[in-house]
Amino acid sequence: MPRISPKLARLARESSLLLPPLLRANKTIDSAKQELRWIQQELPKNKWKSAIRERSQLIPLQYILGSQPFGSLDIHCRPGVLIPRWETEEWVTELADAFGKRKNTTNNGKLSNSLNVIDACTGTGCIPLLLHSDLLSKGVCSNVTGFDISLEAYKLSCENLAIYESSRDISDNGKVSFKHVDIFSHDLLEQLEVTSRSVDLITSNPPYIPLQDYKSSVDFNGTSRSVRLHEPALALVGENEFYETLITKLVLPTKAKAFVFELGYEEQAQRVKELLFPFKKWKVKRYTDSAGNIRCVLGWIRGSNMSVLDNITRTTEM
Ligand SMILES: C[S@@+](CC[C@H](N)C(=O)[O-])C[C@H]1O[C@@H](n2cnc3c(N)ncnc32)[C@H](O)[C@@H]1O
Repeated sequence: MPRISPKLARLARESSLLLPPLLRANKTIDSAKQELRWIQQELPKNKWKSAIRERSQLIPLQYILGSQPFGSLDIHCRPGVLIPRWETEEWVTELADAFGKRKNTTNNGKLSNSLNVIDACTGTGCIPLLLHSDLLSKGVCSNVTGFDISLEAYKLSCENLAIYESSRDISDNGKVSFKHVDIFSHDLLEQLEVTSRSVDLITSNPPYIPLQDYKSSVDFNGTSRSVRLHEPALALVGENEFYETLITKLVLPTKAKAFVFELGYEEQAQRVKELLFPFKKWKVKRYTDSAGNIRCVLGWIRGSNMSVLDNITRTTEM
């Protein structure tokens, strides 16, 4: 954590006596002021002091305020479940945009050709909910099932679903559902009940930080102190085993036609490419986020209707 200079502390005090403790979690006075505004806007006055104290202990603001904006949605957050990130929001939005170009309606105006999606390691449920919502706004109907090993995540995703459903009528336009399932279960497909229905697309933002990087202090690859102290290691620490299982236990046996997996390292994208190398019909690309970092590996069956994924921007050949 950077040390706070006396000058910075004085400037903060001059602005508001509530501001100096927020400097522990913020690099600049401007970002501390922004946080103070959010705390004052979103919490009752009698909660301000405790919120500021918690923030000075580096508790993420989203856990203190209880939610995180994610595209057009407000996703409820609480300790024990990973906070949705802007990088994930960005690729989910781009994915929905790509499918939006494949709009399809029947004569009576109802949506047809619904897209069947499985989201592995779903956490708060942010990916299924935003994908369903964005697709619907583009006239594309989808059925999205998210699953997670964590009971806290499962319960929170169901709560987020209840909030989502209470704010709109989605009865005729597919549905979102969540399950409490371990991706490494021997009967994964039975638990997901996907044996009898077709799957178009698998999405996932699995744990992908190698243990060594997770443990190292804040440096080039190291995890930030606030994340390490307050977000669940179960959601963060993982290596190739997740990508290997996603391909061999989900994509291939369900005959899914496309996938998008978030990742943090080029080697993870290469491992996915390697696993699909024997299957010549698969086209695999990497996706870079708007900050210029490798963020996803995606693939589709050549010539299938999932080739729309090629419309996603900032993808490169592998
Ligand atoms: C990086 S977080 C992503 C959460 C959410 N998809 C998002 O983008 O915010 C990874 C998630 O994987 C879940 N997870 C970890 N191990 C798992 C397993 N064996 N099976 C299913 N989910 C698992 C964690 O509980 C966590 O919610």
